[in-house]
Amino acid sequence: MSEDLKRQAAAMALADVRPGMRLGLGTGSTARHFVDLLGEKVAAGFDCICVPTSEATARQALALNIPLSDLETLDRLDLTVDGADEIDPQLNLIKGAGGALLREKIVAASSDAMIVIADTSKLVTTLGARFPLPIEVNGFGLGATRRAVAEVMASHGATGEPSLRETAPGTPFVTDGGHLILDAFFGRISRPEALSRDLLDIAGVVQHGLFLKMCKTAYVATPDGVKTLTSGTN
Ligand code: A5P
Repeated sequence: MSEDLKRQAAAMALADVRPGMRLGLGTGSTARHFVDLLGEKVAAGFDCICVPTSEATARQALALNIPLSDLETLDRLDLTVDGADEIDPQLNLIKGAGGALLREKIVAASSDAMIVIADTSKLVTTLGARFPLPIEVNGFGLGATRRAVAEVMASHGATGEPSLRETAPGTPFVTDGGHLILDAFFGRISRPEALSRDLLDIAGVVQHGLFLKMCKTAYVATPDGVKTLTSGTN
């Protein structure tokens, strides 16, 4: 998607932000536009307080003088705005291409509402179709966790093995929380709730990138304008 379309989706979300709101700031190239636009609003005197979902977003927000807080100080957030890797018709999501899924899920779960901003390439009829599911795991016992994830994958119809995300050959990607990521390609996730439970039952799994029933609104940028999708009506 062109940067201009990403920015249009971000601008739609910005229009939902009210003075005094406690906001969750997402991670990724689309969320980055939202943070940029919010920064312009803050520079013009807009009042808000924000919790970032990654160190990268925190750095961006700090550079823009956006006031930051945390979930120790704030018990709830009004709204989180974030991107997604896949969006199904019920607005269930796969997230985590940027590796921020754990903080993204903690922040979204602490928010009264979650808005996703994306383009049409992120829309799928069934989750898992295009994008591997990121699974954040503890580095300790990686082999055992990897085998357990492979068993869960097989029991949910996947034919491949989980792959350890790397930044370069032999160098694992490390999340902001100090964990590793296994990417699991399914092709089709037909029972997302059951898959979520099965993955979270594995001792070494910290979290996964299935965001189920968390998002009520998505602003999806198309060349003909930004479409509003609402969960339950698509
Ligand atoms: C970060 O970990 C991800 O969940 C992102 O929100 C997601 O990958 C969307 O990123 P883009 O907006 O860059 O596509």
